[in-house]
Formats: sequence, C-alpha cells, structure tokens
Amino acid sequence: MQDQFQRQIDYLRISVTDRCNLRCKYCMPVEGVQWMPHESILTFEEILRLMKISTQLGFRRFRITGGEPLVRKGILSFLREGALLPGVEDLMLTTNGMLLPEMAFDLKAAGVQRINISLDTMDPEKFKDNTRGGDVSRVIQGIFRSLEAGLNPVKINVVVIRGFNEAELPSFLALAKQYPLHIRFIELMPIGISSEHRNDFVPIKEMKELLGIQEYVPTLGIRGGGPAEYFRPSGFKGSIGFISAMSRHFCDKCNRVRLTADGKLRPCLHSKHEVNLREALRNQSSDSDILELFAQAVWHKPAEHHMNDEALQGLRVMSQIGG
Ligand code: GTP
Ligand code: 5AD
Ligand code: SF4
Repeated sequence: MQDQFQRQIDYLRISVTDRCNLRCKYCMPVEGVQWMPHESILTFEEILRLMKISTQLGFRRFRITGGEPLVRKGILSFLREGALLPGVEDLMLTTNGMLLPEMAFDLKAAGVQRINISLDTMDPEKFKDNTRGGDVSRVIQGIFRSLEAGLNPVKINVVVIRGFNEAELPSFLALAKQYPLHIRFIELMPIGISSEHRNDFVPIKEMKELLGIQEYVPTLGIRGGGPAEYFRPSGFKGSIGFISAMSRHFCDKCNRVRLTADGKLRPCLHSKHEVNLREALRNQSSDSDILELFAQAVWHKPAEHHMNDEALQGLRVMSQIGG
C-alpha cells in the first residue's frame, strides 16, 4: 500500500526472536539485554495471521530477522508455512550464519529463496572479540553451504567500523571477485548501543577509496528490496554494494515496516513510535480490525528518520528490532 508520502510499502521485516547466539559489541551492551518474556513473544500462528493480513494490504516481501532467527525452535516449519501463503512472493532471512552449516539446505527446502549473512571480519580473533565468543569458521562454512544449497542471491553484510575492519575491505573485495557473493559495506548507524560509537562510522566515500577501484559503474538486476547500491567490476563473479545509511539516507525510497518479536509494528527503524498488534491479536480482534490498525500504521510512516536524536528512537537495541 501507499503511505501518505506516496511511497509504496510492500516489505515487512519480521523479528521472530530477540535472542541471539552472539553478542556483537555494536548491537548488545556488555551486560546483555533483558530477554523478552516468552509469553510476550508472538507465536508463529500469530505471525502467520499477520502475514496473511498484510498481503491484503499489498505486502509481498518478507524478511525474517532476530536477534538470530535460526535459534528459534520451530523456525523451519514456520518458514514452510509462510512460503506457501498466497501473496508471499519473496521470503528471505537475515542471519549471523552460525547455524547455517547445518541449516542452509533445510532453509532452501522450506521455501526460503535468498539469504543475507552478517560478517564484519574474517579474522578469527577479531571475530571472536567483536561477537564476544563467535567462531568465524562456522559463518564462512555457512556461507558456502548456502551457495551449495542454491540460495540465491547470497549477500554478506559488512558493517564497517573505524579502527576495526577497514583494513579488510580488500579481502572482502577478493571474495566478491572469486565467488558469486554480494558483499555489502554498511555505514554503522547510531542505534541503541551503537550510539556510543557514532564517531566510528566510515563514510561510503572513504570505503570506496579504501577499495581502490578506479570507476564505479552501478549495476542493476541483483535481487533485493533494500537500499544497497551495487557494482560489479569486470571479471567479478559476485558484486559489491554500499548501504549509505548515514551519509546519504534513503528514506524517500523507504518501502518497509517492521514487526518486533513482541508484536509491535514499527513504522520506522529509527522512531520509537510503535503500534501494538499483539494486543489486537490477543483480544479477539477481527482480521478487518487488525487490517485497519496495520494500514493506519503504514499510512503514518514518518517522512524520514531521527537517527541523531536518541530520545526519539526509544529504548530498543538493534537485536530487539532486527536491523
Ligand atoms: P535486501 O536488499 O532485500 O537484500 O535486504 P536489506 O538490505 O533490506 O536487508 P538486511 O537485513 O540485510 O539489512 C542490511 C542493512 O540495511 C542493515 O544494516 C540494516 O540495519 C539496514 N537497514 C535495513 N532497513 C533499513 C531502513 O529502513 N533504514 C535504514 N537506515 N537502514 C536499514
Ligand atoms: N548499523 C548498521 N547495521 C547494523 N546491523 C546491526 N547493527 C547495526 C548498526 N548499528 C546490521 C547487522 C545485520 C543487519 C540486520 O543489521 O550486521 O547484518
Ligand atoms: Fe550480532 Fe546480529 Fe546477534 Fe546483534 S543480532 S548480536 S548484530 S548477530
């Protein structure tokens, strides 16, 4: 459906859990986060009902996020059912990749078409430190299993952080050259705990210089619904992309809303305004009542973000929103 600024909103990001098997430093505070109580998390039946309702509003693309979506029990059967819903044209996942070695083929069989995997460094020690304990070899193995399983495209999200991984940009470039992987370099956004790192973001312009490519000719045709701009230098099997969340925001082309694991519809990543769909689901509201609430929330999507105003963002950290 269209919002009041004539943007076509057809992309729903669904966080199925706030839990995660990693603790990335820019995503979770060192003391951890208070997990949402089980009873406040939407059941898969409730999520499927909302997906069905949203297709009546023209939603077609559904990205499952977390926390880490693959840690939630029953995720595969949920995905299987979601993929079969009429109107669901694109079902995809954003994951940290830790469970992909075992699950990539099952995801494909369940009807997931494509996948985005977070990987900020390929250095085992740095990865372990940044994720507070993660094993990068599992993520790398998971990336290759995803390619073998026929998930397509497989995209890698690299959040670039000053003093941490800028020096690795050429190694990521080499990966895109050698394999059909789409490596997206992302500007760190000041959300939740990352607000403390607002000076550590590296502008795309600087990333492009670090990559040392002479000419950037944009390429179209890489399947996606997001804000990345892609380039495929000649001789590359994959591509590179940039997500300029900070230096040039893309709010005027925004096409999405988010559902948090506790059932709040969040019209903008950076605004604390949320609509409580869980309450509506649990107080016997009819489908048409919920549809009305949903449509109202989409209509009132803000024109642009309040990235630099923490008071307007609310208290959720990134793992509680799902990116
Ligand atoms: P596709 O293009 O469909 O593959 O997906 P995507 O890029 O939208 O999804 P993904 O979950 O991989 O997110 C990539 C990056 O974009 C992450 O850093 C997200 O936090 C960021 N992102 C996603 N949606 C938004 C948004 O609405 N606004 C901003 N500023 N950043 C977003
Ligand atoms: N800025 C930009 N991207 C972020 N992500 C998590 N936190 C931030 C942030 N502060 C990315 C993750 C994941 C995606 C869902 O969002 O790395 O790939
Ligand atoms: Fe890291 Fe993503 Fe887990 Fe946050 S949700 S701790 S970014 S893997």
